[in-house]
Amino acid sequence: HFSGQVTLDGPSGTGKSSVARAVALELGAAYLDTGAMYRAATVAVLDAGVDLDDAEGITRAVTRAAIGIGTDAATERVTVDGAEVTERIRSTEVTRAVSPVSAVPAVRRLLVDAQRALVADATAVVVEGRDIGTVVLPDATLKVYLTAAPEARAERRAAQLGVTDPARIAAIAEDLRRRDAYDSTRADSPLRPATDAVTVDSTHWERHETIAAIVELARERA
Ligand code: C5P
Repeated sequence: HFSGQVTLDGPSGTGKSSVARAVALELGAAYLDTGAMYRAATVAVLDAGVDLDDAEGITRAVTRAAIGIGTDAATERVTVDGAEVTERIRSTEVTRAVSPVSAVPAVRRLLVDAQRALVADATAVVVEGRDIGTVVLPDATLKVYLTAAPEARAERRAAQLGVTDPARIAAIAEDLRRRDAYDSTRADSPLRPATDAVTVDSTHWERHETIAAIVELARERA
């Protein structure tokens, strides 16, 4: 049996979440979606009516909010102050606002502490996000940086949303580009591969091939 920590970082639209979840299920490991935590924090900020360039207001709203998230790969349920937000965190409104919220250093400190606490007792865990290998779990057993060509990422995200109209696919591509540029250039914990990460480029791979490759890498190190 695998025991240890697998980190899965990378830009949006690589299918990272569904790959991470499947890898966790195959390894019999716990799973944590840290993007869902930043999205839940964003719900709290939006509901507090705070302006997105008001870093102090954002920090206050996130500090006050109780974010609930599980570490079971088979079920996703996210709450803010007890209210279920599992679907709402995937909305366009939240997706638009999440990068500025997650760029606030005090927000990152709060959520990174919560992430470390959530996985502290797990013998085996897969954690996905942007800064897991670089900041959250620097001593992880296996660090994967999952990428894919921008066109492939836009097409996958469109397929996931059931979008076929070329103009809407172009809008999705633009949204991914904007969010990745924001996430990669922020001062605190920018998106980048850890120096000891294995880069997995899934552009020409089926989902099951990506999953199998990562499971094999994890088993080699366990
Ligand atoms: O992975 P997902 O697309 O749900 O992440 C949403 C956003 O949350 C990212 O675009 C990024 O701004 C932020 N995020 C982050 N650090 C993480 C995970 C997500 O800054 N570890």
